[in-house]
Amino acid sequence: MWCPTALLTACDGPLSALDPVGPAARAAAGLWWGMFLYFGLVFVVVVALWGYAMRRRQGTDDPRMQRRWIIGGGVLLPLLSITALLAVGIPAGHRMLPLPPESGPALRINVTGHQWWWEMHYPDGGITLRNELHIPVGVPVDIHLTTADVIHAFWVPRLGGKLDAIPGHTNVLRLQADMPGLYRGQCAEFCGLHHAHMQFTVTAHAPEAFERWLQEASGD
Ligand code: CUA
Repeated sequence: MWCPTALLTACDGPLSALDPVGPAARAAAGLWWGMFLYFGLVFVVVVALWGYAMRRRQGTDDPRMQRRWIIGGGVLLPLLSITALLAVGIPAGHRMLPLPPESGPALRINVTGHQWWWEMHYPDGGITLRNELHIPVGVPVDIHLTTADVIHAFWVPRLGGKLDAIPGHTNVLRLQADMPGLYRGQCAEFCGLHHAHMQFTVTAHAPEAFERWLQEASGD
């Protein structure tokens, strides 16, 4: 996907949240870039003001001007920044929720974290997989997430947000892939010795290919 500068070559890659392939992941990446550019700008302005403050002559400031700077920079700027962040961030968060889809039902998959592997269960097809998910392209997929032992976190950076798997509780995460392909997922909450190896794959198939896979896997 696009990147503002060639310097940021780390933008793509199988685990890059900055290389989104679905609506929820795109919302997260958009928010990330917006925050990066805006707070980058604030940083440059603050450094420029600091440079100016170091060089200016002492004792020449009007006290009223000083008060304006304090109110402007200390109250108004943070207030405006946080309001802008909420105005963009709340709708972005909304796009990650498992809301009723605009067309058709979402596909449900139950995922259980174990030390240190993922159990994937398709309640409709009676299919159980290990460290491997298959999903159709263009269809919202609801991951009903829990754990058999400690807290884990389910994350497919290119397809959606990140969510904790909590003992005794089920969280729901919406994923969607807009392109067929092989995507990677990773446990994102430290869960013991082999946390780093608690990885899985997500294969996104075109709809017909997914139906074929489903039939084969469920043994029909
Ligand atoms: Cu499971 Cu970290």
